[in-house]
Amino acid sequence: MTRKKIVAGNWKMHKTLEESQALITEIRGIVRDEIRSNTSVIICPPFIALPAATRLLEGTDIGLGAQNCHFEDQGAFTGEISAGMVKSTGAQYVIVGHSERRQYFGDTNEITAAKAKSAVRMGLHVIFCVGETLAQREDKSYFRVVEAQLQEGLFGLDRKEFSHVIVAYEPVWAIGTGLTASPEQAQEMHAYIRKVIATHYTDEIAADTSILYGGSVKPDNAQTLFGQDDIDGGLIGGAALKARDFVDIVKAMH
Ligand code: 13P
Repeated sequence: MTRKKIVAGNWKMHKTLEESQALITEIRGIVRDEIRSNTSVIICPPFIALPAATRLLEGTDIGLGAQNCHFEDQGAFTGEISAGMVKSTGAQYVIVGHSERRQYFGDTNEITAAKAKSAVRMGLHVIFCVGETLAQREDKSYFRVVEAQLQEGLFGLDRKEFSHVIVAYEPVWAIGTGLTASPEQAQEMHAYIRKVIATHYTDEIAADTSILYGGSVKPDNAQTLFGQDDIDGGLIGGAALKARDFVDIVKAMH
């Protein structure tokens, strides 16, 4: 098993260019001084900060990602940003299928499949988000929902392409609500996701795929979540906007 431990910060629609530069500088300093583990740290600021972020992160091991991309490589899509454009900023990752994109911007499984394809084709790693709503948790359809998100929205990638994928399980009811999935609930779903990957690809590929948990991860709950067998790190929202909290979450990965 060679899968990586990863803590990624999704800044969502927060921070101007100036504020982004200040936060990146702060994170860079604390990571340099305090992180000795081999946990990969990734930050995903807004698009407008990506070129500056590339410069600020030069010479560090901190990875850089965008929060979205368009599914076409280029074309007449006013206001959109392609995976190739993301790549050209120096970023190495892109988040695809975040529940906020699914909920507010119409990102269906079909669209996430096309985005993942375009992103990998352009040489990016994909942080692919799955997760059920509260209603789906309560009506017990959550395994089926997450499996469909994977089957229809991601598994169009062949084995080689899939080696560029990180999966993030983010139960919608736990995002920004202060409610986290219990470590047992999260572990149960992570193990299920790994099984679905093994069935579609191979056991080895499943064992090598990093599966992150996201949804109200904070410094004080990170360690128990990260202690679960199939939880390989976190995708952090609110707490990623505070350098101290974000790095403390990275430290909980040891
Ligand atoms: P919060 O950590 O703010 O709950 O957000 C999680 C998330 O959506 C990360 O992508």
